Amino acid sequence: MVFAALLLTLSGINVYGQNVITRNERKIDADWKFHLGNAASPTLDFNYGINETSFSKAGGANGTAYAIRFNDRNWQKVDLPHDWAVGLPFDYMDNGDQNAHGYKAIGGHYPQNSIGWYRKEFEVDPADSGGRFELRTDGIYRDSKVWVNGYYVGGNYSGYTSATYDITDFIRFGKKNVIAVRVDATHYEGWFYEGAGIYRHVWLNRYNNLHVVSQGGLYVRTENKGKDANVILKTEVINKNTHAVKGTLETLILNREGKVLVHSKVIPLALDINEQKSYNNSLLLPNAQLSNLDNPYLYRAVALVRENGQVVDSVPVRFGVRTFAFDKDKGFFLNGKSVKIKGTSDHQDHAGVGAALLDYLQYYRIGLLKQMGSNAIRTTHNPPTPELLDACDSLGMLVMDETRLLTSGSEYEKEFRDLILRDRNHPSIFLWSIGNEEHYTQRTDIGKRIALNQILLQKELDPSRTATYAANIGNVYHGVNEVIPIRGFNYNLNGADNYHKEHPDQPVIGTEVASTVSTRGIYIKDTVRCYVPDYDSVFPPWASTAETWWSFAAKRDWFMGGFAWTGFDYRGEPTPYKWPNINSHFGIMDMCGFPKTVYYYYNAWWSDSAVMHIAPHWNWQGEEGKEKIVWVNSNTDDVELFLNGKSLGKKKMPINGHLEWKVQYEPGKLEAIGYKDGQKVTYSVETTGRPYQIKLTPSKNVLLADGEDAVVVNVSAVDKQGREVPDASNMVYFDLEGENAAIVGVGNGDPSSHENDKDVRHNWHRSLFNGRAQVIIRSGTNSGTIKLKAFASDVLSSNIELKQINNTAPIK
Ligand code: GAL
Repeated sequence: MVFAALLLTLSGINVYGQNVITRNERKIDADWKFHLGNAASPTLDFNYGINETSFSKAGGANGTAYAIRFNDRNWQKVDLPHDWAVGLPFDYMDNGDQNAHGYKAIGGHYPQNSIGWYRKEFEVDPADSGGRFELRTDGIYRDSKVWVNGYYVGGNYSGYTSATYDITDFIRFGKKNVIAVRVDATHYEGWFYEGAGIYRHVWLNRYNNLHVVSQGGLYVRTENKGKDANVILKTEVINKNTHAVKGTLETLILNREGKVLVHSKVIPLALDINEQKSYNNSLLLPNAQLSNLDNPYLYRAVALVRENGQVVDSVPVRFGVRTFAFDKDKGFFLNGKSVKIKGTSDHQDHAGVGAALLDYLQYYRIGLLKQMGSNAIRTTHNPPTPELLDACDSLGMLVMDETRLLTSGSEYEKEFRDLILRDRNHPSIFLWSIGNEEHYTQRTDIGKRIALNQILLQKELDPSRTATYAANIGNVYHGVNEVIPIRGFNYNLNGADNYHKEHPDQPVIGTEVASTVSTRGIYIKDTVRCYVPDYDSVFPPWASTAETWWSFAAKRDWFMGGFAWTGFDYRGEPTPYKWPNINSHFGIMDMCGFPKTVYYYYNAWWSDSAVMHIAPHWNWQGEEGKEKIVWVNSNTDDVELFLNGKSLGKKKMPINGHLEWKVQYEPGKLEAIGYKDGQKVTYSVETTGRPYQIKLTPSKNVLLADGEDAVVVNVSAVDKQGREVPDASNMVYFDLEGENAAIVGVGNGDPSSHENDKDVRHNWHRSLFNGRAQVIIRSGTNSGTIKLKAFASDVLSSNIELKQINNTAPIK
């Protein structure tokens, strides 16, 4: 058995050349053990519910999976983040729940697949005793119960919020400790794929007895004062010593390079035993560098708590200096400049990995959206992982942060409270969302009262921001909309003009728009395989094309812009079809992040780049002479289309529109030419030959040897001339060698693919769907070279080499 030891040692930070002992917050994602339990059988659920348990006698746990001595030798070894649902088989059941969640064999009908047990061993050096130990889980789907050394330490009903547990009393110093977690994914929280298991990070944190509380303990906000910024600090300090203490609190502001710029005044601290107190302080940051979407400048505030002159705690928080304004007539302003919200609403899963995204994937996905020209994301319909917000802070992407349910009972009030406390320092968040489409509630007086409760809570915890609610009720005011500061429109834009006229003082945003459906690379409706043509043309009754909503938004200053449903396809909600579809068609990009035609519409009108794109591809062997609808997305002044050098006419490009031609298919080259600011912009599609070789395109060539980094490798097939074959469907096999790196998932964006995203028998493979597939690799822990080989029958194979390096540079 691998004994997974974690030795916690005190780590220091450097303050004015002094190495100070401070808090230690550490991810413990590596080396967990996992086994499915069973919701219908206590014996198959490791005696959960039939043995004397820790619920009747503290620490009593023999014979259960949360006992220290339990033998987990035959359990599967896993690293976090881990989503067990993504590897389960698809199973057809004719009910709405299964359809909405992506037909995975999980939920109430599948008790054998819906409980998961995790165990993790760790050690703590006796030298570290005497402080406080805390376990933090950032997201477990869902209803998790946590034991440490057989002692029940608490649970979290939510599948999306972070939870912290003080485990100080249960640690066995210098001996083996065991964390056990029972996860119950029987119930759904949403109507989309939600994953199952410990799908976000777990942290083991140590604090000295006098410390800033871990969850939201340092709250930093700013107010601009001419060129300077007033930095307003609120710090919650707790004393867990067995005596009253006196000390001091001060805060430093560091710039991007780590240089200390300003030092706050020193505040005296006086706390009784077990007392928690809040301290307010502020300081002036001269010549503050504003954070905007092109240069998301981040400062760092570091709070230092001293006892007897010695620093006993330090808390670093990244923050940005910027202003938000919501104008009822002119829309949204960032730092005084009008910014139209060019947003997407997104769920959290990705091809290959389900809900368990390695941090790199957050940056990858936000990067793709940003490249398209998007400037905002809405975390539908749940609290996101903190790393998504880190990515948005770093890359310059606004965030509308949404809680799961609009209700104010203690559970949901707590979920919203925890969300705000955890996330409020992230400069990317410009708006809180108190909920989405609560059709039982939104038009009622109860809804109004619940909304008011949540809005007041938000104002109390984060006076620097405001809130919206995603209402799909057009021109209706009664209920939530009476009290919500920013009116959110989900669809129903035909009611928006009148609403604005009747309620001219309420700023308006498109909280959810579009829901256009398309399948990447498919240009003809296919009701057997359940594919929708890849144009901006099909949408369900409540929705619209991209062109319709964006043209509407672009013409109205008071309409702040909106969040298109969705940036990426996600598992579940296969509208307009059902089985065999298992994922949605709503994405502007597919599950892998491969662009669909509508991507180029947004790219043309949302970004500053010159865009030219033609759909469909030009491989229609056997269809010579037949008419093809050719769709050109561009932002040039006009476009001339040529087939094999012959002009098919020049057309003026309508602002926020697209162009269409009907073209009789003839093999060869279809080319579009236009001019933007006098510059020629061209794009062409060509009839290709058969697949000749597999091609691998990694998102980067160097990985950190930290066991957490990742790389996305896109897979395609090229013909003899090196042109990508857009309709290739080869089954591709993958082999990875070197330095403990591992493939963690494969995908191809096909909404009807029942191939496994996970490796079932050490035999990673995936077919190309319309010419593309994707492999996601997690880095190992040694420096060296990793090699990915891709091979398929009848075509040449391909290899790439990636470097895995130890990062020795100091991290600022
Ligand atoms: C909305 C809902 C989303 C998604 C979408 C599909 O009404 O808020 O979660 O279901 O419809 O169009």
